[in-house]
Amino acid sequence: MSDTPYTAQIRNPIIVSGFIFDLDGELTDTAEYHYRAWKRLADEEGIPFSQQENETLLGIPRRESLMFILKGRVYPEDKIQDMMARKNSYYREYIKDITQQDLLPGAKALLDELQAAGIKIAIGSASKNAQEVITRLGIGPLLDSISDGYSVERQKPAPDLFLHAAAQLNLSPARCVVVEDASAGIEAAIAGGFHTVGLGPVERVGAAEVVFPNLDGVHMADILGALM
Ligand code: BG6
Ligand code: MG
Repeated sequence: MSDTPYTAQIRNPIIVSGFIFDLDGELTDTAEYHYRAWKRLADEEGIPFSQQENETLLGIPRRESLMFILKGRVYPEDKIQDMMARKNSYYREYIKDITQQDLLPGAKALLDELQAAGIKIAIGSASKNAQEVITRLGIGPLLDSISDGYSVERQKPAPDLFLHAAAQLNLSPARCVVVEDASAGIEAAIAGGFHTVGLGPVERVGAAEVVFPNLDGVHMADILGALM
């Protein structure tokens, strides 16, 4: 028996009223398409770029991603614009056939469960293509707001995008759970004072409060229970 039988066992109840999902890699496998599009561009330019290096680009905006891939190589601005446009055209080519079938396992079930429980749902994605992907996935009607690559200036790991999403939901960060597969995204969510669910390897998202490999079989109760 503990000397402090009451206080030691009292935990602060966590009130969660909103979930903010990143899109690429959590709800659908567009992270793979971003990689393929960058790889195609890098190959054309004769620049080495591996899948492992791509891990650090998850959640990182287009221009910063290109700068990482160029690794200090210097190009005039018009060439940089051309490379970003080419990468985006390859990416758009890959996403044009996305349908509801491309929702990752467990994603739709969790979104339905959250909606049925009256939890507000937002997207917080750095992508300027997020709206199109959402439309193709057919999840628009489940969402209360979309914050994307056009919503804020400072992208992840700054907290701004998730703060934008929380404001859209009219909720404080402390009442929202951010679901992310990128270390930059987890960093952004922690910086903003959000609860965090990391999807993927612990080496990548281990800073999150709760980590799952992916959303397959993950229910709202699993997440909220693990946050308590
Ligand atoms: C993020 C992806 O969601 O969006 C990154 O994880 C991508 O890989 C970023 O670079 C920006 O996407 P887009 O579609 O605006 O080039
Ligand atoms: Mg992601």
